[in-house]
Formats: sequence, structure tokens, C-alpha cells
Amino acid sequence: MESEESADRAPSATASFAATQQRSDEVWKQIGHDPRGFRVLTGERATGLLHVGHFFGSLENRLRLQELGVEMNIVIADYQALTDREASSRIEESVIGFVLDYLAIGLDPGNGRTMFFAHSYVPSLNQLMLPFLSLVTVSELQRNPTVKDEIAQMGTRAVSGLMLTYPVHQTADILFCHGNLVPGGKDQAPHLELARTIARRFNENYAKDKQYFAPPDLLLSDAPLLLGLDGRKMGKSLSNSIPISLSADETATRIKVAKTDSDRNISYDPERRPEVSNLLLLAALCRQERPEDIAASIGDSGGGKLKQILTEAVNERFRSIRARRRALEADMSYVRRLLLEGNARAEAIAAATLKDVRALMKMAYEGPGIDK
Ligand code: TRP
Repeated sequence: MESEESADRAPSATASFAATQQRSDEVWKQIGHDPRGFRVLTGERATGLLHVGHFFGSLENRLRLQELGVEMNIVIADYQALTDREASSRIEESVIGFVLDYLAIGLDPGNGRTMFFAHSYVPSLNQLMLPFLSLVTVSELQRNPTVKDEIAQMGTRAVSGLMLTYPVHQTADILFCHGNLVPGGKDQAPHLELARTIARRFNENYAKDKQYFAPPDLLLSDAPLLLGLDGRKMGKSLSNSIPISLSADETATRIKVAKTDSDRNISYDPERRPEVSNLLLLAALCRQERPEDIAASIGDSGGGKLKQILTEAVNERFRSIRARRRALEADMSYVRRLLLEGNARAEAIAAATLKDVRALMKMAYEGPGIDK
């Protein structure tokens, strides 16, 4: 294990973020040349429902990678949802909802290269977390800026052991299938740094000349950040979002109460008019147009007109996705079976990795001549 001292000499957060961005740009270029050289592992914690922000921020990107022929593994991080006490009473609804959304948007486990699974159903993945935990120090876990932010947001509530260690679990999510590319936002950068550290330390300790785990890279998406309908961060479990699964009428009701401002002349100015500009941006993403042009077409017809245009744009963009989702909802046993198949596929891969890990750690007790 690296000493505490060397960890303290790590480059500053901003310098290492610039490096992450540069590496991410290079990777995007490489994917164009050689999509089969990458194995993507990404996912989300099972809190609440996927919304239009997820669609334009990450799901569309996954579709694009799938289309390019990149292997796509998606973890539904249901154990990670336990770090969020409010959300943790509705985990099943969230997990099954994600599966419906993935299928409805066109992520296709039938193509043999796309897989999604819930990590609580993959015991060998979870077991990898134990040796990985031995490779990090408590103070390294306590320094993680994303975890620190989440703890700060919780206010005074006590911090669980899982909250502190979930980034190590996430490393197991990535490395069990030798994922080498993780699409995600800036907030995932500290978690990726930890995954890289664990991969390197594992190799150093147990696989000196093998480089058994390749340190994975973060792939940043260039999608603009969408705010919620109230101008604050769009949240999975907040009512300021537009879930993919809403009906057209429910979408209209949500947008009707969106925050705007008192200037009837609609203009795209994210600095000075964040709420109005955010609604324009969402309409623009749905219609694949420029937000400035949509603003010009509304002119001084005011916020009501903007909301009407936005409602039509969202409902039009998601019409076929929602129709597919409804059709899938009519056959829930099929949907649940697909998830269980994904879980089983993930377990087979994780078991093979765990077998290698046991051998490398010299903890394989079968002995010669006995296979299992
Ligand atoms: N941490 C991610 C989130 O906050 C979810 C997640 C769990 C994840 N395991 C992962 C993301 C592995 C990428 C790779 O939503």
C-alpha cells in the first residue's frame, strides 16, 4: 500500500481534473477508431425515477456508445441506495423502473454486448469488496470530496459505514468485469481516482508482472447540465424533475408550475435568467434546435407560451419511448426475468474474476487435481 505521505503529495484537485478532462477527450477519439477496445461500466444508485436530465445527460450517451459497438455494462446500484434513508424504502420500485426505462429507450441486452444487473444479486462482485477494502486507508475514504458533500447535505444525521465505503463498492462494480471506461459526471472523478488506486495497489501487491486490473478511465459527457423546474439541481427523488415515465398530462401539470421570471420577453441568458434559460435548453434538447432560436420564436409572448412549447417538445420527444414503456409494463414477468438474467450473467463474470483473485492472493484452497 502507498504511504499516507505519498497520498498527501497528490496533485491539487483542479490540476487532476484538467488531466481527467484531457484523458476523456483522448478516449472519445479512440472510441471512434476502436470501439471494441473498451468495456464500459456505468450505472446509477436506485433512488427515485430516471428523468429527462438523466436522458440527455447520460442515457443518450449510453445509446450512442451501444450504437458504436462498445460493450455496455450497467449496474443498478441498489445497495448504494441504502446511503439515502428517504429513498431506501422504495428501492424495488426504483430498480424495476430503471429496467423499464433502459428497455424503453433502446438499451438492448439481447445484442449480447449490453448487460444490466442489480449489484445486490451478484455475490461474487460483493465479495471482491473485502480485499479491496484492505487496500485503502480510513483517512483516504474520509477525504473523498464527493462523499464529504453528500455527508454535508445530510445535515446532522449520523454517517453509516456504508456511506464511507461505497466508493470501494463502486470499485468492485467496475473491476469485477474489468471495466476500463466509466461514463459519468465530474462528481464521479474522486471515485474513479480511488478505483485506479485500488487497481494499481492490487497489481503491486498480488500481480506484480501481470497488471491484472487495468486502471479505469472516466469518460466525461459533453451534455449541458439541466436544472430542475424550480431552478435548483434536478433530483431523482424530487418533484422538480420530469421523469421519463410521466404521462403527457402529468408532464403538462409539472411544467405549468415551473419557475420563470417577470420579463415577458423570452431570451436565452443562462447567467441572468437561469430558470427561463433552463426551460429553453430542455425544449432545445428535445427538438434538437438552438435555445436562442426557440427564444426568438417566442419573443414577447411570455412564460405561458414558453411552457406550452416546452410541454409539446417534451411530450413529442418521449412519445414513442413512453409508448414502449407502457407496452413493457403490461408484461412485468418478462421485465423481471430480463433483470434476473442480467444478474446471472454478471455473477458468472464476477465468479471468474473472484477465482483469479483467489489464485493471485494465494488463497485458493482447492489444491492440485481438484477443480471446484
Ligand atoms: N455512484 C453512482 C451514483 O452516485 C452510481 C454507481 C454505482 C456507479 N456504481 C457505479 C457509477 C459504478 C459508475 C460506475 O449514482
